[in-house]
Amino acid sequence: AANPDKHKQPEAFPAPDPPRAGETAKLWEKTRFVGKPFPRVDAYERLSGSAVYPADVRLPNMLYGAILGSPHANARIKRLDMTRAEKMPGVRAVIGGTVPEANPAWHYRQGRPAMEVAGKLFDPHCRFEGDAVAAVAAENPYQAQDALRAIVVEYEVLPFVADERKALQPGAPLVHGEGNLVQTDRYQRGDVEKGFAEADVVLQETYRSACELHTPMEPHGCVANWERDRLTLWESTQGVFAVQSGVAEILGLPLAKVRVIGGYMGGGFGSKLQAGKYSVIAALLARRTGRPVKLILPREQTYLAVGNRPPCNMRLKAGVRKDGTLTALDFSVLGTGGAYPAGGTSLVDWQVRDLYSCPNVRIETTDVYVNAGPARPFRAPGHPQGSWALEQMMDALAKAIRMDPVEFRLKNVPSGSQAREGMPPYATTGLRQCLEEGARAFGWKEARQKTGAPPGKASGEGHLRRGVGMASGLWVAGGAMPPSTVIVKMFSDGSVNLNMGASDIGTGTKTIMAAVAAEELGMAPESIQIEHADTGTTQYTRPSGGSKTVPTESPAVRAAAIHVKEQLLSIAAEALKADKADLAVMDGRVLSRSDDSKSAKIADLAGLKQRGVIVGIGSRAPDPPGKVVNPFAAQFCEVEVNVLTGEVRILRFLGAHDSGRVMNRLTYDNQVFGGITMGIGFALTECRILDASQTGKLLNRNWHDYKLPTVLDVPAEMVSLPIEILSPEINTTGAKGLGEPVTIPTAAAVANAVYDATGVRITESPISPMQLC
Ligand code: MOS
Repeated sequence: AANPDKHKQPEAFPAPDPPRAGETAKLWEKTRFVGKPFPRVDAYERLSGSAVYPADVRLPNMLYGAILGSPHANARIKRLDMTRAEKMPGVRAVIGGTVPEANPAWHYRQGRPAMEVAGKLFDPHCRFEGDAVAAVAAENPYQAQDALRAIVVEYEVLPFVADERKALQPGAPLVHGEGNLVQTDRYQRGDVEKGFAEADVVLQETYRSACELHTPMEPHGCVANWERDRLTLWESTQGVFAVQSGVAEILGLPLAKVRVIGGYMGGGFGSKLQAGKYSVIAALLARRTGRPVKLILPREQTYLAVGNRPPCNMRLKAGVRKDGTLTALDFSVLGTGGAYPAGGTSLVDWQVRDLYSCPNVRIETTDVYVNAGPARPFRAPGHPQGSWALEQMMDALAKAIRMDPVEFRLKNVPSGSQAREGMPPYATTGLRQCLEEGARAFGWKEARQKTGAPPGKASGEGHLRRGVGMASGLWVAGGAMPPSTVIVKMFSDGSVNLNMGASDIGTGTKTIMAAVAAEELGMAPESIQIEHADTGTTQYTRPSGGSKTVPTESPAVRAAAIHVKEQLLSIAAEALKADKADLAVMDGRVLSRSDDSKSAKIADLAGLKQRGVIVGIGSRAPDPPGKVVNPFAAQFCEVEVNVLTGEVRILRFLGAHDSGRVMNRLTYDNQVFGGITMGIGFALTECRILDASQTGKLLNRNWHDYKLPTVLDVPAEMVSLPIEILSPEINTTGAKGLGEPVTIPTAAAVANAVYDATGVRITESPISPMQLC
């Protein structure tokens, strides 16, 4: 059933009537579902515990897999003896580097053009703690753990480097033979020296952001099963097709022989965008035993081996004129993606490059190897780190020229994307509105006047000091990532099936897509049956990442639903002897807009019965040519600092976000609150601690020692303020990305508020009581 109108995109915005020219706000008043705060279509499954996550999958005869990780930061395996483990009760397979057919190559890649380092699945040289040494499959998880302890490994323990600041020093242990430099990138526009000469004030500061560990609620893992030569993986992943291609490549299988099923997943944040060693290991154990194998990583192994937000050392020099014009930014970054190429400094510079108007910018980023687990993309990769430096610098510059921080930023709102060739304009840019309307809603001006004092007291009095801070941001992506194809089917009884490849990573993707289809087909979102995230049965798409899922998938869903509607209306027009253009679909009926007597139940349409099913195919047009689709943000917060204990309490937060159209006000606000919460973790608590001097080992490997923000650490008052700038140019639903921009400015806003309260600028994250007192 080819779509004859495949390239014809529908008019913008699923509304009963197309928006009038110049109409900008309150589109949700015209819709039944899109933009409204309606609960998730899978709310019952999620809350009742009946949602099936990969860890819940149980197959007959299933075994349990476990991985033995290297206990050393850097070591060569001298001897691996698995014979005793093989004889342990319940053990059905033991694999490791000494089993050649179970030890394929493993590639680490970063960047475009890809820089690649080849390793092995079970590498005889373990360059980070937790790298896979061997693996077992046993009848139950306890027998599997016991068997790991029976594997005898003799290591040649090697010197390590755990601190990226020491990686390039003479005499530093080398992670790979050739030295610890991964790469240095440079960017320049204008002339920074000239810019500094034109400035009235030049400031320079160094900043460091700690390494954060990926902590999705659901750990990484899968269930692997072979049927003859076909592998099926039930995997917790953001992208079933990415896992399919990763596993197929490593195992030398045709893509068609690898089926990856996603279903429910408990978060990924970037750490589940790709195939992990655990998936391949589960597949190998399953093949060897001829039985299904479940392999879910313990939290400790996820902390060691499946990613982090790289630590970042930054120096920023900035020049400004008294009138608030930025004249120059000179930014240098040293970071690490761990022991293999993994984008250690990736996108750290983007805020400096593109957020504020500045003609003279110089950037140098240096990425080095250390003996630690490889980084993975981490919600808005690089951006919160760069924001930590730039937004604190903006605050300091504003103070130096005695300008309000919001005013100062408004002075430097750019007219297009300066970082891109030819400075293309943004399709929409709400940076100015985020700043202005955010400041107004927060009560910024009034709050600033109380700096350094708790309510009812003079500034500087008492041990509780209040302060407010703000920061803005932009996310590098947020437009489309075609190709994406979606199929919507309507059966002869009028019930509808929506088929898409995208994962719902916990953000509510299914709910939004169901609403978009429901809006067009005049039915309730929860009545739409959704098939998704299965390489065997659903349509190809890119992983759910980059905050691109809604802007990429929703226009395709809408086009597919319209394709169904068009066909349905043609059938009904014939049956009702009506003009097709006069017909509408609502609540299971086709009705005439002008003639009340002309109406039919969809289920009664003989023409549809004859067809059996209507198939609608939708795809998505590229982003508007010559324009950039980026989301923008400004966040404001108030803190109270106890200057005796150094405790920082966040009293309130407001996030003003231009992410285009709000698709569902409930899931939208959830993303804002979640992003702010994650940013509070960056600001106040999260920090990977490696024993840099003696062992190189991870010292905080559980939820007790690696402190995540909890309900006690987030403010009771969190406000989400959508800056809904609508443009039919963006795409046919009007949405831009939301998930990642919401965590970009948070930490810097907290640091600025702490400064406002105490006069102490904390440039190293997390802001700990030890630093404040
Ligand atoms: Mo996101 S770091 O693209 O999942």
